Amino acid sequence: MLHIDRDSGFIALHTAHTTYQMQVDGQGRLVHLYYGARCEAPRPFAPPQGDPGCWPNLLGMEWPAPGIGDNRYPFFEPEFADGTIAADLRFAGVDVLPEKYALPGLPAFRYGGEGVCVSLRDDTGLRVELLYGVFEECDLITRAAVIKNDGAAPVILRGAPSAVLDLPEGAGLDLVTFDGAWAAERTPHRAGVRPGVQSVGSVGGIPTHAHNPFVALCRPDAGEDHGDCWGAALVYSGNYRCQCELSAAGVRLSLGIEPYHFAWTLAPGEHFVTPEAAFVFSAEGFGAMSRRLHDAIRDHLLPAPWRDMRKPRPVLINSWEACYFDFDEPRLFALAAAAKKAGIDLFVLDDGWFKGRDADNSSLGDWVADPRKLPGGVAGLCAKINSLGLDFGIWIEPEAVNPDSDLYRAHPDWALHIPGRETLPIRNQYTLDFSREEVRREIFRQLCAVLDSCPVRYVKWDMNRSLANVYSAALPAARQGEVYHRYVLGVYEMQQKLTGRYPDLLLENCAGGGARFDCGMLYYSPQIWCSDNTDALDRLSIQYGTSFCYPPCVMGAHFSTVPNHITGRAASVEARMAAALSGTFGFELDLTRYTDAQLNDLRPYVDFYRAHGALLRAGDLWRLVPPTGRGAAWAIAAKDGGEAVVFAVGDVLDGRSLPLPFAAAGRWRAAAPGAKVEEWEGETLRRHGLPLPKAGGDLPGYLCWVCRAEPAG
Ligand code: GLA
Repeated sequence: MLHIDRDSGFIALHTAHTTYQMQVDGQGRLVHLYYGARCEAPRPFAPPQGDPGCWPNLLGMEWPAPGIGDNRYPFFEPEFADGTIAADLRFAGVDVLPEKYALPGLPAFRYGGEGVCVSLRDDTGLRVELLYGVFEECDLITRAAVIKNDGAAPVILRGAPSAVLDLPEGAGLDLVTFDGAWAAERTPHRAGVRPGVQSVGSVGGIPTHAHNPFVALCRPDAGEDHGDCWGAALVYSGNYRCQCELSAAGVRLSLGIEPYHFAWTLAPGEHFVTPEAAFVFSAEGFGAMSRRLHDAIRDHLLPAPWRDMRKPRPVLINSWEACYFDFDEPRLFALAAAAKKAGIDLFVLDDGWFKGRDADNSSLGDWVADPRKLPGGVAGLCAKINSLGLDFGIWIEPEAVNPDSDLYRAHPDWALHIPGRETLPIRNQYTLDFSREEVRREIFRQLCAVLDSCPVRYVKWDMNRSLANVYSAALPAARQGEVYHRYVLGVYEMQQKLTGRYPDLLLENCAGGGARFDCGMLYYSPQIWCSDNTDALDRLSIQYGTSFCYPPCVMGAHFSTVPNHITGRAASVEARMAAALSGTFGFELDLTRYTDAQLNDLRPYVDFYRAHGALLRAGDLWRLVPPTGRGAAWAIAAKDGGEAVVFAVGDVLDGRSLPLPFAAAGRWRAAAPGAKVEEWEGETLRRHGLPLPKAGGDLPGYLCWVCRAEPAG
């Protein structure tokens, strides 16, 4: 709900539980007042030190501009033709938009919502339109900006934030970031905000494994089910910065494109659109914060038709950990035949299918089947897989090229490279210059030739390195600061075209595991491969950290073999199933080594997913016991509280009782795959907990479906 008082210059954005307030002050500055629990009356920004008076250094600002007395670190940097970097932006008007704004060429939350545009202007002719989106039911506030040059000379943008959030809480806040490395993505790190500037971000062209473009601020006493938390996600998949600054005015959180190597020239009349930032606030801790974000992502970001959580997602078998590069058609067929016996729906041919690709040192860029491995081409294999009753999917890495490829030999300048300097290969590959239309056109042509040749139901779009040697042969020296962002726009454009041309295609993004796991990619693909690490114990932590922003249904998760290929750990079948069933659920192991009886033993889990998949995709996540290194527990519960799937892994929980906070009064039924149904009182489940069986072994696991047998009397 929007509240705009034009006489007093007060603007409030209300969601079901939250309020965001701003005010035009006596000098025409757009001042930020408040973001927190819902309230109707204006809440003056009250910095911990001093009277803000008219000094911008102590005010909350909606769009802090440099060079006019706000001494906090400037994120917005417009450089004018006379060499000055200062902007004095004053309020120029506010408009209620007919609907929530969209951002051309950029992903943004959608399907409903309200929109407001607040215009700011300075007398150089620079205009900034601040766009706000309000999604009432899931408590989401979004922000983006359109920066316009209405002046007579060019302006170079050297920094352009998406959103800035000033909180007057001073030293009393913690910052939580989600950090890691390959095979260990998105571990939460929480620490008190320190005086000065601290940030996470990326200069690798993709978010990378190191940090995620989602951060949270919270009060020190906040926990899973209590306390104030602010979650902030950037809807962007390239270089970014999430920056936190503690000053006398409080905490300033800024999110946007990383200013390093960013310089965007705005000729007179041109404009620049920033990516979108998205905020939620919860006064009930991280659990509620995450559940609101999950609702927002599922209902307002994922691509149609996959945002309908009732629509089944296929249970897939992926060939990577089953055979890596070492396969031919009979081996793939045998793998698919075994998968069929386990009840699997879809066979995914991973890396290694295109000509000459026997290791990771050649052929990326030449998207034509290798006749040695696939004599009948992709279409021939697909027909054979289909004849088993399985659907077919394929792996591609469109942004990559190996120096040893026909594409690179024909177009060496299509790879990002700095003339006269050695180009850095990572995993033996270069990155194609996706800022160039002709490069994207050729790759798209090759992909369409494959996808048009047979019914491909699923594509895994991989991206196995970060960007380096960033220079585009197609742009002049003065515009090289645009390449990183134009690259991301190119990736978005191609995923839009791909899913537009094949509307029923299930697209899964991936980047060496989870190096590009962000809200931007989720606009195009309803699932992202969470990590190359499929070890159940490690997955508990990776999926736990991921779940602070992203719902379980978007996390690519597969059941794999033991000992695990990365960690060597031997987790129980139940533990591995619990981790995989909490995500998209698939398999990634050599099932041809399984006997028919062993394949049959997998069926109850596949049946379990079929029976409860809609609940697992649409339900509320309850993080019951955080990962301790020895186990964790969580549940996914229907919004009406009537049923849930409960997961527990690790010896710390073996044989214990697990309280279920969502269990209402009345009789409940509990059914684990392959086990007999038991009944409990909801009150017992809530207070004393669901008794878990004692399984023993290395990493025991437990999962079961609980359902209210009869409503409370
Ligand atoms: C990346 C992906 C893996 C697999 C390989 C293939 O590492 O994350 O799942 O597809 O590439 O080379």
